[in-house]
Amino acid sequence: MDALHGVARQLVANKKGILAADESTNTANRRFAALGIEQTEEMRREYRGLLFSTRSIGEFLSGVILYDETIRQKDDQGVPFAQLLSAKGIIPGIKVDKGTVDFEGHPGEKITQGLDGLADRLKEYYAPGARFTKWRAVIAIGEGIPTEDCIEENSRILAEYASVAQAGGFVPIVEPEVLLNGGHTIEKAEEVTMRTLQTVFAALEKKGVDLAGLILKSSMVLSGKECPEQVDAKQVAEATIRTFRNSVPENVAGIVFLSGGQSPEQATENLAEIIKLGQQPWPLSFSFSRALQEPVLETWRGNSANVEAAQQAFLKRLYLNKSALSGT
Ligand code: 13P
Repeated sequence: MDALHGVARQLVANKKGILAADESTNTANRRFAALGIEQTEEMRREYRGLLFSTRSIGEFLSGVILYDETIRQKDDQGVPFAQLLSAKGIIPGIKVDKGTVDFEGHPGEKITQGLDGLADRLKEYYAPGARFTKWRAVIAIGEGIPTEDCIEENSRILAEYASVAQAGGFVPIVEPEVLLNGGHTIEKAEEVTMRTLQTVFAALEKKGVDLAGLILKSSMVLSGKECPEQVDAKQVAEATIRTFRNSVPENVAGIVFLSGGQSPEQATENLAEIIKLGQQPWPLSFSFSRALQEPVLETWRGNSANVEAAQQAFLKRLYLNKSALSGT
């Protein structure tokens, strides 16, 4: 457990964040297709290689979450990606859920699959250097949803996953994402996020998961994307911290944010406002995918002549988010 605590602490220390580069093949292909980038394993390798070989990313990143395909890939010099990251002082992690499926009998709701054979899969990831894992559950807000059943079932699965991950020597990142889609108010998002986090932590406690060796990955508390009343970053920050104070035990090793479909600028601004609220019981940081990668992909567009400019775009987002962690 000491090693797990150390990894968990390191992931949220020194004003560094975590890059989520664990998009499934389908998701990565969807993002490539939108920009006219060829959807092949080689292009996904080149793109991840562009991210991981960017100079000085170790100043900004404590960890990178990889996908099964990516942890098996190598850079142009034949160095496995996980090894390349470790050499930069960045801890490799691995997404271990297998995506969402419809929750039977609950229209509009999803549960996350991937518990089958999880302990065996984890063994494969330890040797290449992965020391933490991620599992994402989604909670949608809409007419009559989320149901208690959906929150309970996703929480039960998250706790089972976290318990298996710790037994296998990995820090679990537990990610119950309350989706931004919909016309709901920020008050509704706060109520749902609080209920979700309370249920998740009750399930983790029941399962005996060691919270000092666990990271929570949370959405920020935001008005729905289609809500006519959009609020400013200060209100987002206050609602988010109030929600955590009402639901997250103080011994959790840290909380990191997903970006969830916010623009890169909005995610960074909201993060800075959250940090400006001052010291909290848990270290806070970012673990963005889209808010770090959108400008990179748009600059690269699958063209090797754009690699350097794309890496500059990546460094810019990293620099701004690290600044946000200082409240600026
Ligand atoms: P976004 O930052 O794009 O929401 O992705 C974070 C993530 O890891 C989702 O599982």
